[in-house]
Amino acid sequence: MITSGHLAEIESPQLTAARVFSLIAPELKLIEQEFERQARSNIQVISYIGDYLRASGGKRVRPALTVLATYAAGGDGARHNAIRMAAVMEMLHTATLVHDDIIDNAGTRRSHASINSRFGNQTAVLMGDWLYMSAFETSLAERSLPILDILTTVTRKMTEGELLQLTMLGRADVTEEQYFDILLRKTAYLFSACCEIGALLGATAGEEARRALRDYGLNLGAAFQLVDDLLDFTATEDVLGKAAGADLLEGKLTLPLLLLLEQEPSRRAEAQAIMRAGNYDKITRASLLRAAEATGALKQARAAAVEYATAARDALNVLSPSKYRDALSSLPTFILERES
Ligand code: IPE
Ligand code: IPE
Ligand code: MG
Ligand code: MG
Repeated sequence: MITSGHLAEIESPQLTAARVFSLIAPELKLIEQEFERQARSNIQVISYIGDYLRASGGKRVRPALTVLATYAAGGDGARHNAIRMAAVMEMLHTATLVHDDIIDNAGTRRSHASINSRFGNQTAVLMGDWLYMSAFETSLAERSLPILDILTTVTRKMTEGELLQLTMLGRADVTEEQYFDILLRKTAYLFSACCEIGALLGATAGEEARRALRDYGLNLGAAFQLVDDLLDFTATEDVLGKAAGADLLEGKLTLPLLLLLEQEPSRRAEAQAIMRAGNYDKITRASLLRAAEATGALKQARAAAVEYATAARDALNVLSPSKYRDALSSLPTFILERES
């Protein structure tokens, strides 16, 4: 994988993942409790599915961003409103995953059967809707139009990302521009929103800090999805906790493959054949991986992730130094090095 050595000049001290986690461990615990409270319902099927979603875990990257950004902007990340907004961001994210798995017909999520495969598409659609609306309902407690503005905009953008992706499904002629357009919408804007909302909750943050955290999140989110796409290409289902090699089978052309096809257009027919067949029986995953390695396509896709990760870290330079800024500054490296 990529090492931190690829990143440019370091301005903030870099913390270990364990240190970042321990820095906000009490807040993360409160977020779990809040998530649990929100997912509880007097309708039995909802509380049952809520339990199921909660117990299945996840990395909790987005709520961690909201809490860290709140602190980095001079606020108190342990205050109830920050915890509540962090839980809202995780609920929104979970809603997109529940719907995404229906769209992608995914069987596994977070190392468990996905909601759609366990309860069926009908229940999963409504469960996703319920999570979206519960997130919005919870966010209303903040009485903040700027926050509501960010939440509605990001939800619209995520939906546009998934819609755009649908229009590209099965096509082997996706351009880099189209790829990045989808990537920003479906993933990066949510990361950006998590950080910008943190900035708004920070007591002393002005416009500059808000913009910095928003840019940080956008770049971090882009790096995150690039790595997700790389991992889909290179990793195994056991490690990922979700299907591997699935993007192409689902008809999605991601950057490593897109770059490979730019260099070896003759492979376009191969990609199309895999998408049509929905399996790697004739053309193996390993053969594509070898080709992506040999042509440098894999390296180039990794370089794109490093570039966004570096831009994320650079955006933090205008914030006042703090251990929370250091923690945010360390996240791009973890994202590049993550294995799941
Ligand atoms: C998965 O996000 C969806 C993408 C944007 C790639 P995560 O990898 O953060 O999923 P969880 O929350 O840890 O399961
Ligand atoms: C990200 O796209 C999905 C969302 C932002 C909801 P993917 O389809 O690549 O996500 P995974 O790989 O299923 O987690
Ligand atoms: Mg998916
Ligand atoms: Mg993926």
